[in-house]
Amino acid sequence: MIEQKKNKEKGRAMRRARLLWDLLCGSRRYFIICIAASFMVASCDMLLPQIIRTTIDSVIGDKETDAPGFLLRMIDLAGGVDALASKIWLIALSIVVIAALQALFRYVTITSNTRGGEVLLKGMRDRLFSHIQRLPYSWHMKNQTGDIIQRCTSDVDVIKNFVSDQLTSVFRIIILIVFSLFCMYSMDLRLATIAALSVPVIVGYSAYFYSRMSKSFLVCDEHEGVLSTIAQENLTGVRVVRAFGREVFEKDRFEKQNNIYTDAWLKLCRLLTAYWSSGDLLSGLQVALVFVFGTIFCIRGTLTEGELIAFISYSYILMWPVRRLGRMIAEMSKAGVSIDRIAHILDSPQETDKPGALCPDMRADIEFSHVTFAYEEGKEVLSDVSFKIPKGTVFGILGATGSGKSTLVHLLCRLYDLPPENGKITIGGVDIADIKASWLRKNIGIVLQEPFLFSRTLGENVKIAASNCTDEQLEEAAATACLDTTVKSFTQGWDTLVGERGVTLSGGQKQRVAIARMLLKNSPVMILDDSLSAVDTETDEKIRNALKKRFGDATVILISHRITTLMLANQIIVLDKGRIVESGTHEQLIEQNGIYKKIYDLQMKMEEAEIDA
Ligand SMILES: Nc1ncnc2c1ncn2[C@@H]1O[C@H](COP(=O)(O)OP(=O)(O)O)[C@@H](O)[C@H]1O
Ligand SMILES: [Mg+2]
Repeated sequence: MIEQKKNKEKGRAMRRARLLWDLLCGSRRYFIICIAASFMVASCDMLLPQIIRTTIDSVIGDKETDAPGFLLRMIDLAGGVDALASKIWLIALSIVVIAALQALFRYVTITSNTRGGEVLLKGMRDRLFSHIQRLPYSWHMKNQTGDIIQRCTSDVDVIKNFVSDQLTSVFRIIILIVFSLFCMYSMDLRLATIAALSVPVIVGYSAYFYSRMSKSFLVCDEHEGVLSTIAQENLTGVRVVRAFGREVFEKDRFEKQNNIYTDAWLKLCRLLTAYWSSGDLLSGLQVALVFVFGTIFCIRGTLTEGELIAFISYSYILMWPVRRLGRMIAEMSKAGVSIDRIAHILDSPQETDKPGALCPDMRADIEFSHVTFAYEEGKEVLSDVSFKIPKGTVFGILGATGSGKSTLVHLLCRLYDLPPENGKITIGGVDIADIKASWLRKNIGIVLQEPFLFSRTLGENVKIAASNCTDEQLEEAAATACLDTTVKSFTQGWDTLVGERGVTLSGGQKQRVAIARMLLKNSPVMILDDSLSAVDTETDEKIRNALKKRFGDATVILISHRITTLMLANQIIVLDKGRIVESGTHEQLIEQNGIYKKIYDLQMKMEEAEIDA
């Protein structure tokens, strides 16, 4: 059991590492330069205490020089320690040169790290966005927009910060720890052991604190999420808030959540302060320990004064990497969670076509045969639905809300895949599963029930599927969709911005924009899914008459709960709870005296009442 768990953990760590390596594809070279430069910075750090030590012991004092090999060679080059006493400027110069080199390498470290970080960030965002674009519609329906956006922003940031702040430092940290301990051991075994003992203590202590802080950060993040949801809801739902006089209630709700959020931050700040101050104390104790024992050894004559000062310098140098190591260990898990969250997107399979997918002529008969479908197991939405739409005809579908009308459209466009054992949908005898998805959708123009407009100009919204159409074509489509008068009523015409930053269109206006958009696409198959529901009956009739002339030889599927809209269809089916209950022409259906007739009578009565009123 434990063995199994260990293997699973190992597998997960490997998967995370592999994905991270993969994500680092374009930015790796910058991080390698950064690591190499930070190696040089760390080496410079190591040199200074050795120069101070040699100066004190051998230039000021008269002890034999015991500096590392290459320093000895430099001293020999300058003419030995005795000569150095009269050339103090040489020592000063060496310190300046080291400082200059350090500055140069630090510059390279920071620039390459920043560049690498931005390249990594951009690469991750591009990759996620293009992957998401190719994920099936059903995936989008299952995943919340807010959550996907958070994965593409916050989680991407966490990974970038982990790489550029932590991962690149890890080499510098290890170099600094190994180098300073090595330098200490080369001077005095006992004192070096005392200094080394504190390393695991401080690393463990930092790791403990940072893991607690990560949890607090997570809590703060969650509270922030709730707070912004409240604010966002109130901004978008301002009409409801005002109309129902909920201002005070909403203000209180916001203040309550704001308090919780502030408290969470204060708690985190307390933790941070406690960590930094106690960490300073711990490091101070370590230096004090080295200092006390070093002084004792000095008095006993087993350590030189220069060595003592070098030891204290190394103890100070050791402090930063040791504390950082603890932080890195703690933050590794945070980055791991973010990598998993991104993997959830990148590992989701993209929409693919079968090998050798076809692009057949779409001006052909469409046939549904024995189609049964369920979004969730056990909840059948369509049951054994069969019908045929001869090419170039208008096909009407009538049904109550939830009867499965839009589901038929989803299946026809392959927004959801129909499992092979659940029936077949064919166009000109070719199974749509064998048709290229992009070809299928390119040739089917749809007006969705709730059209979506981008925050762009009216013209851009209409021309989405036909960017290089002529002005005449645009005007003609607008006239057919009864959109021309609306456009003329705006001072900026087609250049009017719609959506959040521009004018707000009514439901009916949006539907008309969507109809014009579909008409411009000029596809051989056109689907209008309850697209005139928000348009008044009079305009509905106008559009219907204009559309009839416009359809030409296209195959049209008209979905509506308004019988007047459907009357022009060559054939109509009535859907009830996912089953076809009646079918025929308008006249045949009226004669059948079933549901269709009942709805027809009811709607006629309502219309008369409307006219009377
Ligand atoms: N993406 C979906 N996931 C799960 N259930 C869905 C989804 N879309 C629609 N449904 C359900 O399928 C049924 C039929 O929906 P739909 O085809 O949209 O009906 P209609 O267009 O006739 O109003 C409804 O009960 C609806 O709740
Ligand atoms: Mg629908």
